[in-house]
Amino acid sequence: MPSAIVTGATGILGREIVSELGRSPQQWPTVHALSRSKKDEYPQNVVHNHIDLTSSAKEMAEQLKDVEGEYIFFAAYLAQDGEKEAADVNGAMLKNFLEALKINGADKKIKRVVLTTVTYPNDVIGVAKGNFMNLATSIGLYCAVSKELGNGDLVFPGSETFYTKFDCFTYSRLHASFNTWAALEPKASNQAFNVVNGDVESWQNLFPKLARKFGTKVKADMFASPPDKDAASIVQMAKRPPLADFAAERGLQDNKVLKQSAVEQRIDLIKWSQRDDVKAAWKKLAEREGLEHDAFEKATWGFLGFVLGRNFDLVISMSKARKAGWTGYVDSWDALSECLDELAEEKVLPKFE
Ligand SMILES: NC(=O)c1ccc[n+]([C@@H]2O[C@H](COP(=O)([O-])OP(=O)(O)OC[C@H]3O[C@@H](n4cnc5c(N)ncnc54)[C@H](OP(=O)(O)O)[C@@H]3O)[C@@H](O)[C@H]2O)c1
Repeated sequence: MPSAIVTGATGILGREIVSELGRSPQQWPTVHALSRSKKDEYPQNVVHNHIDLTSSAKEMAEQLKDVEGEYIFFAAYLAQDGEKEAADVNGAMLKNFLEALKINGADKKIKRVVLTTVTYPNDVIGVAKGNFMNLATSIGLYCAVSKELGNGDLVFPGSETFYTKFDCFTYSRLHASFNTWAALEPKASNQAFNVVNGDVESWQNLFPKLARKFGTKVKADMFASPPDKDAASIVQMAKRPPLADFAAERGLQDNKVLKQSAVEQRIDLIKWSQRDDVKAAWKKLAEREGLEHDAFEKATWGFLGFVLGRNFDLVISMSKARKAGWTGYVDSWDALSECLDELAEEKVLPKFE
């Protein structure tokens, strides 16, 4: 029977990998869930071990004295301001962790290491507390507080362009099933895969459903007037889009599709979350409904602004995984709705009717 180690056990993706393995004690009799904090109670086949992945390999070897596993799911992540810093810090965490297992001789047992950054998730829909990138919690809080403000129907805070473009999402539970499949499937060895739900969605479809779930509706003419300059924001993205690397091969050299993209927010969510009337509405709502007071402060407004503010399609293929035998699929609205229900259970959002 295989044993497993999951790093990032409290994160939006790692937490679900631990739950997935925890649900199958016969298949996974020993699961080590590693993180600095412990936020959940675990079933009997899961042991939580404290670890700080920013410590040296030698220090980590001490912390990992009683930890070994045949399958490693590396889902830890420490956000940094720049991409290079993020690569350096997270790369060192992985390297030192593997080195620590080697110091302890636990490397000899390892059959496969699954890297969450290799499973390319996109716009993750899931539940976690106090993490860096959390779409469902922030959008749920935006809807609940907007309704509480009582300023009329719900307004999409992101880009008018993106509202009718396409996006693909990754449900954290589907991602967890994918990870266990990828750990055991011979064809998945040494491969990188996209992992998305398998449908293609658009906010013009999801946002009215979201509004209905919160007992309200979308403003009929929300893009009729120009954005309020004080409330809105535009941030330019990289001058050279990734497509530029393939432009000549695809016949797109000097084409307009290579123009610089931007993140456009009609309502900049960081500014919005700092408004006095918004904070007062949250306080009133949280007190009336008995919600966790710090949930609003912990919400990842910058991340949600980025997800809703892009002005280009994100259509992601699952063909490579399907060819290797993966058959998983989930409807993105069902995933979002399920997460919002869970957040209401956890008293982050008000109960739904
Ligand atoms: N969330 C998304 O929408 C999204 C989208 C695309 C790709 N991804 C990728 O998915 C991967 C996982 O990200 P995530 O969103 O799941 O991250 P997350 O929710 O922020 O979770 C990060 C995990 O890492 C742990 N961690 C952080 N620093 C640590 C340290 N020094 N020592 C030990 N554990 C530490 C945290 O636990 P403690 O704080 O308790 O230690 C937490 O369990 C990343 O590579 C990310 O780029 C995520």
